[in-house]
Amino acid sequence: MNTVKNMKHIAIFDFGSQYTHLIARRIRELGVLAKIYPTDIKALKLPKDVIGIILSGGPQSVYDKKSPRVDAKIFALGLPILGLCYGHQLMAHTLKGTVRPGKIKEYGRAKLTLQGTSPLFAKIKKSSTVWMSHGDSVSKLPKEFKTIGSTNDCAIAAMKDSARDFYGLQFHPEVHHTDQGLKILNNFVFAICQAKKNWQINNIIDEQIKKIKKQVKNKKVFLLVSGGVDSSVAFSLLTKALGSKRVYGLYIDTGFMRLRESSEIRKFMKQAGFTNLRAHDASKIFYERLKGVADPEQKRKIIGQTFIDVKDVVAKKLNLDSLQWLLAQGTIYPDTIETGATKHADTIKTHHNRVDAIQKLIKQGKVIEPIADFYKDEVRKLGTLLGLPSKMVNRHPFPGPGLAIRILCHNATDEKQVLPDISKVRLPITNYHILSIKSVGVQGDNRTYAHPLAITSNKTWDALDKISSNITNATKEINRVLVLLNRTRHPLGILGAGSERSVPAELKDLVFNFPNEDRTLTLDRIKLLQKIDNIVMQEIQNAGLYDKIWQFPTVLIPIGCKHFESVVLRPVTSKEAMTASFARIKRHILKRITQKILNTGKIDYIFYDITNKPPGTIEWE
Ligand code: XMP
Repeated sequence: MNTVKNMKHIAIFDFGSQYTHLIARRIRELGVLAKIYPTDIKALKLPKDVIGIILSGGPQSVYDKKSPRVDAKIFALGLPILGLCYGHQLMAHTLKGTVRPGKIKEYGRAKLTLQGTSPLFAKIKKSSTVWMSHGDSVSKLPKEFKTIGSTNDCAIAAMKDSARDFYGLQFHPEVHHTDQGLKILNNFVFAICQAKKNWQINNIIDEQIKKIKKQVKNKKVFLLVSGGVDSSVAFSLLTKALGSKRVYGLYIDTGFMRLRESSEIRKFMKQAGFTNLRAHDASKIFYERLKGVADPEQKRKIIGQTFIDVKDVVAKKLNLDSLQWLLAQGTIYPDTIETGATKHADTIKTHHNRVDAIQKLIKQGKVIEPIADFYKDEVRKLGTLLGLPSKMVNRHPFPGPGLAIRILCHNATDEKQVLPDISKVRLPITNYHILSIKSVGVQGDNRTYAHPLAITSNKTWDALDKISSNITNATKEINRVLVLLNRTRHPLGILGAGSERSVPAELKDLVFNFPNEDRTLTLDRIKLLQKIDNIVMQEIQNAGLYDKIWQFPTVLIPIGCKHFESVVLRPVTSKEAMTASFARIKRHILKRITQKILNTGKIDYIFYDITNKPPGTIEWE
């Protein structure tokens, strides 16, 4: 096998798309090395072993003068080039086509219909599902180009100049939700770039161990362990590279874990053979610092900073000489990309391991993140290869800030919300209610913070999926769609049937108010969510659904009519968290969950989140 340095590879130019790394990942999955390059690299500086170029997506508009460009000479290198999303638009723009803001923006699922033939689409079905996330569109092709695919709302969804092997796709073949995406990339890599297989995951382990040894030298590492798959794999890799005497694990209990989870994690880690692990209960200081805080980004920043402060306190207690230790984190790629860590990327949310204090340590070379280039599914593969128990490797992901970002907060003194007027927007439904809370989303590679729309409907999951996309595509004021599962005493929405349909389901008449007092991160609210989250997880386990669902956040929201607390169920299926679909759980199971949650006597409404990612993110904050 070649060394990575001189290996033939595909160069990916990173325009800041949330998916740039995913493109590299997919190509590596195909068995070919791919590397990411900054967009301002000069064509002549590209290494000789580049056999093809991919221009990634990005959050900007090409007609904005400040948006990133490429050295136009890359189009004269004689290499095949594939432009994706922004990359597709940039290719059109640079080669003298036209890009305009699309009349209709597309986020999420779309149907692609192919035209003519092309090596990029060899053995691809004439009609298939693709994943879109864009506002602008190519409106006029550059000379020599032909359209080879379109969707309902995007006439030039795919284009080619076969003489020069240039291809552009408005959609994202790299995301799991584009049905034939991997086949399309396969065609580009093997048929068009004529690559030969030169990459496999076992190489990654050896490669990472070498990297760890090189970075740590003769020092030791102090790892923040959460009990989840990421930090466990990082722990295992570090231990393999450095030996257990040089790796010290610290589990910080934030108080925002699931019910009884902290004690289970300690047991679990012991069983998995991790001996060098210490647990520290820091819940008091986390609660204290988050008292009264409602803004999601502020909450995230406080949590990240508190992790570091607690780590420092413990390190001091242990008399650790900071010059002799590096901080290790089980950061994985989505944590960095969604924090806006790459040059052109927007900050979607600040992950707990990317706050300022950590960024500072990173700059000083004091942080080691052995799995920061990987996605969850790769990390799981690594975990299995490293011999970790499958129960640990296959746990649902759980975010570092835990339930703190699943409890939406409200300050009574905040200015009264003026809800957007969407009465003129053409929506596929008429019976809806805009909720006064907001949640984070990601659209066209940018962060959104907007209102959810609550609806009731007895339609099929397929129909609901379309309704949801139609709504979020039609107006930027709404980034999520929720189906109401109950109306106190009268089950409605997707659980409704028979006579229940005759209950007047006028959502506009229901009350979804904030309470008159503050609702922030109090112990009572944390306990309430722990209880409800536990009901949900138990039911999912009992129904044999745990392994079928990728992640299942249950979110507490401070609105209602009596208790002013409601719940959103947010189960998703995903492969690596960069894209996700809402999960489709059988209705009798939802009915049982809903009933059990209502039996707590503390909840007014229960909603089911039918938003894919994009436009919603998995977590609400
Ligand atoms: P979103 O909500 O951005 O989440 O779709 C993608 C994945 O990342 C997890 N997540 C986090 N994980 N620290 C973490 O360790 C964080 O601050 C954080 N925020 C989100 C989320 O649960 C999902 O799996």
